[in-house]
Amino acid sequence: MIEEIAKKIAELKQEFAKTYNGNSHIQELIPVSNSKEFPIETIHLKNLHNFALKNPIYNNAFKQNIMNISTFVYEGDINEYWLNSIKHGSSCQPFYPTWIFSAYVVTLLAKNLGFKELIDVGSGDGRIAFCAKFLGLQTISIEIDDALIELQKKIATATKVDFNPICVDAIEFDYSSLKLSHPVFFIGGLPQMGGDILASNIIQKISLSKIKNNSGIVFAGTHSKRQMSNNLAHGGWSCVIDKNNLKVLKTISLPTTWTFDQLIDTPYIYTEFI
Ligand SMILES: C[S@@+](CC[C@H](N)C(=O)[O-])C[C@H]1O[C@@H](n2cnc3c(N)ncnc32)[C@H](O)[C@@H]1O
Repeated sequence: MIEEIAKKIAELKQEFAKTYNGNSHIQELIPVSNSKEFPIETIHLKNLHNFALKNPIYNNAFKQNIMNISTFVYEGDINEYWLNSIKHGSSCQPFYPTWIFSAYVVTLLAKNLGFKELIDVGSGDGRIAFCAKFLGLQTISIEIDDALIELQKKIATATKVDFNPICVDAIEFDYSSLKLSHPVFFIGGLPQMGGDILASNIIQKISLSKIKNNSGIVFAGTHSKRQMSNNLAHGGWSCVIDKNNLKVLKTISLPTTWTFDQLIDTPYIYTEFI
């Protein structure tokens, strides 16, 4: 079912991108209600809309019918936060969000795979941790940028979903201080653009801890041949996956703000240690 939902949102995005004639910096959509194409709990959809409505990066919303599905389109601007996020010496990747609906699908899949805790590493405005929290996982939302953490706290208060934002450099953070049983780490960066530094560092830390054999890592990859001269398999993460004895459990492709104008979406690769 999750794969079908992902396929459908990717189709809607393609159609939306073709017809979109606004000039907003970022834009994304969320279905208004559940349907046979989007068999999602009403309360979950309500939470997703609430995240957009309570998030000041969005400054406009309107209803649009796409492929006979009623959606809300949210338009916004992340320039200010993007600029802030690149000022840190050890920043591995600037702020660029996945779609809110995609954040929901990736966390739903993590929950279905049996993970109990989700550590969002480089969490931006916290959308992945937000979704994981209302789905019932324990969450930690790690972000280096203080302005983004303030934003996350504002959203957590306004939505009453406390997804546990922490302002810290993910490379410095002591993950063994967390009481984890079956965690999944979402790496908030693309390969060869800084995400690999973030990933290698975290994998190294997990490898030294007792939770290694119970841990999963989710990578956001790219299908773009332009960005990847080699290492194209697994969205550009094959070297990291092979080097660290990781096994791919699943891959799912979903819209993100950075692939809005592309025919391809962002692959999320779910792995665990062999
Ligand atoms: C591409 S954004 C991803 C945001 C979010 N995970 C999402 O999918 O919407 C990467 C985020 O990682 C943060 N970041 C980069 N380096 C970091 C580090 N060393 N420690 C913690 N956060 C970091 C950036 O500030 C940025 O917000």
